[in-house]
Amino acid sequence: MALEPGSTPATEALARLAEERVDHRFKGLPPDAHGLTVAELAAQRRNLFTDGFTTPVLALSAEHLEHNLRLMATYTTRHGLAFAPHGKTTMAPQLFQRQIERGAWGITLAVPHQVRVARAFGIRRIFLANELVDAAALRWIADELATDPSFEFVCYVDSVRGVELMDAALRGGTERPLDVVVELAAGEGARTGVRTEAECAAIADAVAAAPTLRLVGVAGYEGEVPEADPERVHAWLRRLVALAVDFDKAGRFQGLDEIVISAGGSAWFDAVADVFAEIPGLSSPVLKLLRSGAYVSHDDGHYRKLTPFNRVSEEGALEPAFRLWAQVVSRPTREQAFVNAGKRDAAYDLDLPFAQVIRRGDTERPATGIEVTALSDQHAWLRTAPEADLEVGDWLGMGLSHPCTSFDKWQLIPVAEADGTVVDYIRTFF
Ligand SMILES: Cc1ncc(COP(=O)(O)O)c(C=O)c1O
Repeated sequence: MALEPGSTPATEALARLAEERVDHRFKGLPPDAHGLTVAELAAQRRNLFTDGFTTPVLALSAEHLEHNLRLMATYTTRHGLAFAPHGKTTMAPQLFQRQIERGAWGITLAVPHQVRVARAFGIRRIFLANELVDAAALRWIADELATDPSFEFVCYVDSVRGVELMDAALRGGTERPLDVVVELAAGEGARTGVRTEAECAAIADAVAAAPTLRLVGVAGYEGEVPEADPERVHAWLRRLVALAVDFDKAGRFQGLDEIVISAGGSAWFDAVADVFAEIPGLSSPVLKLLRSGAYVSHDDGHYRKLTPFNRVSEEGALEPAFRLWAQVVSRPTREQAFVNAGKRDAAYDLDLPFAQVIRRGDTERPATGIEVTALSDQHAWLRTAPEADLEVGDWLGMGLSHPCTSFDKWQLIPVAEADGTVVDYIRTFF
């Protein structure tokens, strides 16, 4: 199909999202919006509390989302870091687009399906923070590289066997070699990645011997450093940089336009900024690639505690952007209440949700004396102190912990301004 003048496959695909019909597939949306397109519903600027949304409903704060996107764009620019935010957090092409518009180099992903989603929405640069040994996926990536000269793709290698499998899958099927970085494990007992520098060199040798692959750098994930503290994380990041320096001295990066060194989630980007600032001159310019993902929505639990902005508060602060609204459906005793949101709706792998505010009619007040003590599939269990004023029908607004396992429970998420006006809807693809 011919594109409109001035449009790209990315803008066309995003425009098609706005034309999607709202119906029973999307939890929490107003039943009387059935059949409207997302664009039509957004144009109505409905109020989250009074215009037909049903509980439970997860909302993103328009202001906090925008603040977080801008803050990390500013932070990475200030520290000379390129940014490939981890897209697995949101799997939301509209947010990928906003990240790219704010200067991100590309998008990080974890598995082939996620790459397909990003490609369907025109993402040009993808960093796959995983070894890719799936032959069907490799052949598809090779096709994408062949048909789109502007597509750039980098993935991990962490074993000689992996290199051999990749090379075998790509033989005869790739015009451009596939770019890879050696993944250095974050220490003994860490997750994936090569344990020793000697093994890293052996894998780099295997890549050099594979005509279908090209070594472009090194990478790892400091979020997996065992018993992480600032000292251990800095030490591991220095090891990663030293590995790049050694590889460069050994001529492994000869002929590259750019050498990739990548690390960084949302818990230690200050350490990444510190250590990457000390990277010495190498034989080619270095792409210092940060991969934070959870920062987009931030949270009220895990990342609130871990955010580097607690250490570098002069550089700003992220704002928690999620609030899950549920309704009190049972108040069997003075000490107990139940709302109609459970494991289907809220992240619970790191912390339970946090009761924050109560709405009765159009008044909102702090959820004093209310604590979420457990989640069933479709209920949250609340313990209420004597002073808690809570009755059946009240709406309870809860903060969440862990963005990655919050986004994945919702396919179309209203974005609401502080007064409840819903201005947009974010589509996710998990
Ligand atoms: C390899 C890798 N890189 C980057 C990230 C992003 O980290 P965060 O979710 O803390 O933003 C993750 C998250 O799990 C990861 O596994």
